Amino acid sequence: TWQSVPLAPPDSIFKLTAAYKSDTFPQKVNLGVGAYRDDSNKPWVLPVVKKATNILLNDPALDHEYLPITGLPEFNSAAAKLILGKDSVALREQRVASSQTISGTGANHLGALFLSRFYTFNGPKQIYLSNPTWANHHAIFKNVGIEPVDYAYFDPKTVGLDFDGFISALKSAPERSPFLLHACAHNPTGVDPTEEQWEKIADVFLQKKHFAFFDCAYQGFASGDLDRDAWAVRYFEGRNVPMLVCQSFAKNAGLYGERVGALHFIGVDKAATERIKSQVSVLQRSEISNPPSHGARIMALIMNDEALFEQWKEDIRTMAHRIIDMRKKLHHVLTQELHTPGNWDHILRQIGMFSFTGLNAAQSAAMVEKAHIYMTGNGRISMTGINSKNLHYVAESLDKAVKG
Ligand code: LMR
Repeated sequence: TWQSVPLAPPDSIFKLTAAYKSDTFPQKVNLGVGAYRDDSNKPWVLPVVKKATNILLNDPALDHEYLPITGLPEFNSAAAKLILGKDSVALREQRVASSQTISGTGANHLGALFLSRFYTFNGPKQIYLSNPTWANHHAIFKNVGIEPVDYAYFDPKTVGLDFDGFISALKSAPERSPFLLHACAHNPTGVDPTEEQWEKIADVFLQKKHFAFFDCAYQGFASGDLDRDAWAVRYFEGRNVPMLVCQSFAKNAGLYGERVGALHFIGVDKAATERIKSQVSVLQRSEISNPPSHGARIMALIMNDEALFEQWKEDIRTMAHRIIDMRKKLHHVLTQELHTPGNWDHILRQIGMFSFTGLNAAQSAAMVEKAHIYMTGNGRISMTGINSKNLHYVAESLDKAVKG
């Protein structure tokens, strides 16, 4: 029956994790998947998550009943406040339709499905994605019949933002085009617009009536500050740009495998928002019936309790600052000790979990094959795989790969 099913290639990111795990080379390093590691290369269960889990497990009323279709209400409301801010006009006017999702991927999928079903496209069903973007974005939109189209974003010459290219893509796209925006800590480049640039981007969104499809997978990871990392989303909301936000708690709470996320639509008024929520609920029912409860309960506890919330912020700072420290040290070894050819300042400038090294495909492959340092072929390294013990090995291997 299934003779005609072709063999699919393995996922470009998760195949690196598998290859790393089966490699017996003692100095192997995994700079592939964006998953936080502490300085001993161990996954880090956030102390605040341990505390919240204990509270949950000792709750005699805990059961395993179904959550509502759109998820745990106290999780959804706290998640919306976390990204939109306590002063959000949309929240005050009850114009936010929030649903719990299967982490950020599920939020992107549900948002994409909703767009495919209900958005009035101006011409063919298309969404503009930054070039480059997280590879899964392409697959998620294609799955629901929306064709991804690239917009200029990254400038290899400056290893920075191609701001003019981005603005002209916004201007030349048909009116009411959906554009996917990384809210902060752009994956894979680590290159974010500045606040002034976001303001100009929002101007064009309003002129052209574009739709902002925000993906926010790294709130807190960019600067160590949850509010600062939500700046672009809040600014767009304040200016009434039509938008939705996909939110993930995989990275900022270390809840990767628990699949905790949310999708927030901003409606034009309360009645329209209720209609959106009713349709999201219908879609969610046929896809997953209702989302899983464990991670959402943990996050609801953390976000709704002042002391736990403060501790979470401290834990986020611990992760973000370790990454920033590794950026400084890697830059120092490359430029001051090894005198590696080229300019490496982008390692300091780039934001969040990743650095786009500028290594080409052959150099990236050499890192994997010769040095057993696992990284994606586009030159992206996950900074969190670097620690005080492997820093020199990583720097020396980068140096060798660049020198060829
Ligand atoms: C990554 O880009 O490494 C992460 O977002 C993990 C994933 O799902 O690909």
